[in-house]
Amino acid sequence: MRGKHVLITGGSAGIGRETALGLAQAGADVTLLSRDRAKAERAAAAIRTATGNDAVAVLSCDLGDRKSVHAAAEEYRLHHKRLDVLINNAGMFRPRRELTPDGQERTFASIYLGHYQLTQLLLDRIKAVEQGRILFVTCPPGQAKVRFDDLTLERGYSTLKAQFQAKGALFMFMRELSYRLAGTAVTVIAMLPGLMLRTELMTDMPLYMRLPVRLFGKTAAQGAAAQLWLATAPELFDVTNRYFHGRAEKPITGQIADDEACRRMWQLSQTLTGV
Ligand SMILES: NC(=O)c1ccc[n+]([C@@H]2O[C@H](COP(=O)([O-])OP(=O)(O)OC[C@H]3O[C@@H](n4cnc5c(N)ncnc54)[C@H](OP(=O)(O)O)[C@@H]3O)[C@@H](O)[C@H]2O)c1
Repeated sequence: MRGKHVLITGGSAGIGRETALGLAQAGADVTLLSRDRAKAERAAAAIRTATGNDAVAVLSCDLGDRKSVHAAAEEYRLHHKRLDVLINNAGMFRPRRELTPDGQERTFASIYLGHYQLTQLLLDRIKAVEQGRILFVTCPPGQAKVRFDDLTLERGYSTLKAQFQAKGALFMFMRELSYRLAGTAVTVIAMLPGLMLRTELMTDMPLYMRLPVRLFGKTAAQGAAAQLWLATAPELFDVTNRYFHGRAEKPITGQIADDEACRRMWQLSQTLTGV
């Protein structure tokens, strides 16, 4: 990965941090994006020390805030002419329904709209490299469900409804983007690093999920292994519009497989983000 640049959202903790460590070990220049700059700086310093790779930087951004994403993309563009791999990894659970200042449900605004906007604003940098790759950390296709008639979940909120709506939208974005990138050297892959991994994400997980994860969960490093492979494997150079659970490819089914729904999501996202 020497000479390649990777931007990973949620690189300051959990699976993202472990993936960033592996990427830095492989010689890549890595940028860790997260909300909490001090936390990300600590992660970056630890990765630099552990790997001897000094090219580990931090980009501060709240993906749930359109202005913050715009500013972060501008900052990245100012310092980097290329982006070889973008890993849309950041995630969160929201126990209660919250709206962002621009009226979007927070999980959707952060996990989906933020990644949509960031990817669009950096797409020319990814197209500028010989072989660009974008990973989307989604949910299993069967769980994804976007409620087009109630995107803010006004008519009934739950943590998991919000989660599967945001991840579902991200999955749809991957699919529509793959069509729009046809003929370019940029590939897109949806993936799940595994289930039940012990990370900070547990803090806001519904209680019935938290206990089994605490007792039987795998480590963040175990989740990062598949993510690292998908981000770097040369044999995947022409693999696009696919879904992997760990290292196993799985079929794309349900609402995500509906091309019309994916197009609708794209158009809606353009309206909601202005990009
Ligand atoms: N853990 C599991 O069991 C599991 C299972 C399946 C899938 N996943 C997926 O794997 C990915 C990584 O999860 P994880 O378990 O490693 O979570 P984690 O330990 O909680 O880390 C989440 C990362 O996302 C960042 N983040 C959260 N909200 C953000 C926002 N609004 N803007 C920018 N950055 C934000 C956090 O940094 P700051 O707090 O500094 O912003 C942190 O770096 C997620 O997409 C998750 O859905 C996890």
